[in-house]
Amino acid sequence: MDGSELVGVQKTLAPVLKAKALDNRLPDPILGDQWAEQVMRRLDPGYDQGRFATSQLGLVAVVRSKAHDDWARAFLTDHPDAVVLHLGCGLDARVHRIDPPATVDWYDLDYPNVIALRERLLPAREHYTPIGAAVTDLAWLEPIPRGRPLLMIAEGLVPYLTEADLKRLLTSVVDMFPTGQIQFDTVPVWAWRTSRWDPTLRKYDAEFHCGFDDPARLADWHPRLRYVDEAPMNDSPLLTAKAPAGTRRLYRLLNLVPGLKRSTRIVRFRF
Ligand SMILES: C[S@@+](CC[C@H](N)C(=O)[O-])C[C@H]1O[C@@H](n2cnc3c(N)ncnc32)[C@H](O)[C@@H]1O
Repeated sequence: MDGSELVGVQKTLAPVLKAKALDNRLPDPILGDQWAEQVMRRLDPGYDQGRFATSQLGLVAVVRSKAHDDWARAFLTDHPDAVVLHLGCGLDARVHRIDPPATVDWYDLDYPNVIALRERLLPAREHYTPIGAAVTDLAWLEPIPRGRPLLMIAEGLVPYLTEADLKRLLTSVVDMFPTGQIQFDTVPVWAWRTSRWDPTLRKYDAEFHCGFDDPARLADWHPRLRYVDEAPMNDSPLLTAKAPAGTRRLYRLLNLVPGLKRSTRIVRFRF
């Protein structure tokens, strides 16, 4: 089992998973995701061998996951009867990390072959349903129970959608539910426009299809949607507190470059 069945954008799940696996090996991890380490080891037993194999440069992705987890936990504490749509879930073990009560129904969605791989690598659980589908084909929304609070989480997904598809997704979800929280992350317009030449994305045959300089404005897409706030990523105090010294130094330098400090924006909306 090595994930070789993944194609194009699906391969972008691997570096994030590796970052989470490596974080779990820090003496004081940011996320502490034991599942990431187990899954990574099964996908690539030698993932921590080789020259830069144990570099913690990916820790920002872990900071992003922690921000999404914290927001999700807070929402589920206030809304224990929620329906969770975790879109573009990849091999992320969020449902296990958060371990919601049985009153929550949780749906993990990704492409069918990603979901098939996930089902081989991660345990099933009650009140949990994996959905193998393209998120843009909104037919998957049909069987989801309505009339309950909604939590939608899309981590590392939105830049791979077109603006038109994102708008259709957001407005459809808000129309379907009485109340809810929607949290995701976006890249700025420059990162979208240059993504075709981004060496990391090229390696995964992927590119971005949208970018926003002011993601708060996406609330204008639906009269019931309102922007709440943003969580720090590259400049997160968590990095200063927990990353190894070399990683911290590098991010301190990168954050001096205009545009890089908030090159990913983690944003939260409510309706
Ligand atoms: C960067 S990975 C993030 C994975 C996971 N959310 C995490 O943070 O570990 C992006 C994920 O989005 C999925 N994805 C991208 N476009 C998608 C689409 N149109 N429909 C369903 N999944 C999609 C990919 O297959 C991949 O698993």
